[in-house]
Amino acid sequence: MCGIVGLVNGHAVATDLVTALGRLEYRGYDSAGIAVAGPGFAVRKVAGRANGLKDGLDASFGGQAGIAHTRWATHGRAEMRNAHPHVYEGVAVVHNGIIENHAELRAGLAADGHEFASDTDSEVIPHLIAAARARGAAPMEAVRETCGALHGAYAIAVLFEDAPDHLVVARQGSPVMVARGEGAAAVASDPTALAGFCDEYTALEDGDIAELGREGVVIRNGAGSLANRDWQAVTAAEEAGAMAGFTTYTRAEISAQAAALVRTDDALAARVLTPQIAAAERLVVVACGSSLYAASTARAWIEELSGVPCDLEIASEYRTRNAPLSRGTVALLVSQSGETADTLAVQTMFRAKDVPVVAVVNVAHSQMARDAELVWPTRAGREMGVAATKSFTCQLLALVRFGLALGMARGAVTAETLARIETEIASLPAICTAAELLEPQLKSIAQRIAYENEALFIGRGPAAAIAAEGALKLKELSYIHAEAYAAGELKHGPIALIRENSPVVVCGGDHAEKTLANAEEVRSRGAAVISLVGAADAERFGPISAEMVVLPGVGLGLIFAQAVAVQLISVHAAEALGCDVDRPRNLAKSVTVE
Ligand code: M6R
Repeated sequence: MCGIVGLVNGHAVATDLVTALGRLEYRGYDSAGIAVAGPGFAVRKVAGRANGLKDGLDASFGGQAGIAHTRWATHGRAEMRNAHPHVYEGVAVVHNGIIENHAELRAGLAADGHEFASDTDSEVIPHLIAAARARGAAPMEAVRETCGALHGAYAIAVLFEDAPDHLVVARQGSPVMVARGEGAAAVASDPTALAGFCDEYTALEDGDIAELGREGVVIRNGAGSLANRDWQAVTAAEEAGAMAGFTTYTRAEISAQAAALVRTDDALAARVLTPQIAAAERLVVVACGSSLYAASTARAWIEELSGVPCDLEIASEYRTRNAPLSRGTVALLVSQSGETADTLAVQTMFRAKDVPVVAVVNVAHSQMARDAELVWPTRAGREMGVAATKSFTCQLLALVRFGLALGMARGAVTAETLARIETEIASLPAICTAAELLEPQLKSIAQRIAYENEALFIGRGPAAAIAAEGALKLKELSYIHAEAYAAGELKHGPIALIRENSPVVVCGGDHAEKTLANAEEVRSRGAAVISLVGAADAERFGPISAEMVVLPGVGLGLIFAQAVAVQLISVHAAEALGCDVDRPRNLAKSVTVE
């Protein structure tokens, strides 16, 4: 999380920096700040979003090199005093990552008389660099020496008061790009932020330190040797989809799902599995958040279609355990952004063990995509809303297609199954659109949940994972406490939560008769059962439901319809409670710290 950007180009850079920073706001929006070079530093910080920096860029911001930052708070509250850049004795720094040994470093510096102005882990960095400068180190050496003292993850950009036409950039663990153009150089967490300011970029590798000036970019690797890297054209981020008459991007993105599924299916048609991947004996699927729930939803489909056992792992947990890997393991990483820190860490682990990695990823230029053996793309398009919506259903589709491709490569798919799955896939866009038409009913359910201020989601098989996604979506958008359980688990404890009128959202589907029995159990304890079922189950769920939404589709199709339904319930609950649907509190679109 956090976005950093820096620019040196022979003109006043402040306005361009704020423009570039606005493009990084998806990485966090707790506070924003800018520092521009000489004479001295001009510094401005604001609580909240980057565009708040625009007012107040007066004549003192005329410098031709500068750095800027948009923050997602890790250490220190989301307050102005903790906004970056952090400045100390002629050194200004922006940082993305976490310095794990900051307390120890801070204590050492304090003992030497350093005084700190923030509660952040990041602030030790300019202090250490300034201390190295005071001992006579040149800018690059001071940064190298400082990096040697830091434990954790960082991408930093450093501006020196006494070298006002250069920037120094260093990376360990957190992604960062450096870029160059005619008389210009730049740094950014995401290269698309630099469109219009530089022509080509390259990703720094761990241990790299780069010096940026109008004459170009010099990169040295961890050993201090000059590094030659491949450069790629800087391109603008995909345009945000139109709001199309909706009041939030999130709602517009729910509506854009049908088109996104068509694009994704077209892109997948051209992909083939490598022989090594086709020969997989076991799949380990690793992801976080909604991407994890997409994987969880699709696991049974992948196993059924391919016959290959499929383990599901939470990235942040998997990376901390030394799980034994059986021969023939293929890893499947699922991520919208392709830069989630925990999932990337797992990718690094797999690479070190020579496990082939398939990346189901939406952002084509992301590190995960760059480092994968095979990219199995989603083409959801850009999601402006922080909550995953169209990227989630595109992941479901990509994962079904992966299971099908694997099964076909292994001769495990009969002609009959193939025909059935193809028919079901072809119907998905229309099913999403038809589910959206049920919005008035879903809105009234959202209002009931908002009034009760809690919800339990249950389901079986793939629908249990949709229940989990529904609870996540409701929590993140409306801040209503929501829990999800596999329906069969309820009586092992969570049923104690049920009180009179507790809203319980029941996702029907596979094994509906068993789910129905679980719904009866909560109803007989006073719960208000809200059923999201297909037409085939309407008759039996109707009598026990306080509300019932009869969704289009069966099998795969019903799951996609349920995904749309829980998205719409969450958006309307958030709106009923006056929440910022596109920018929920405490969140960021890309989770680039552990
Ligand atoms: O970019 P990724 O798919 O790797 O992100 C994973 C999660 O951070 C993400 O799905 C998160 O849970 C969303 N806010 C869900 O709406």
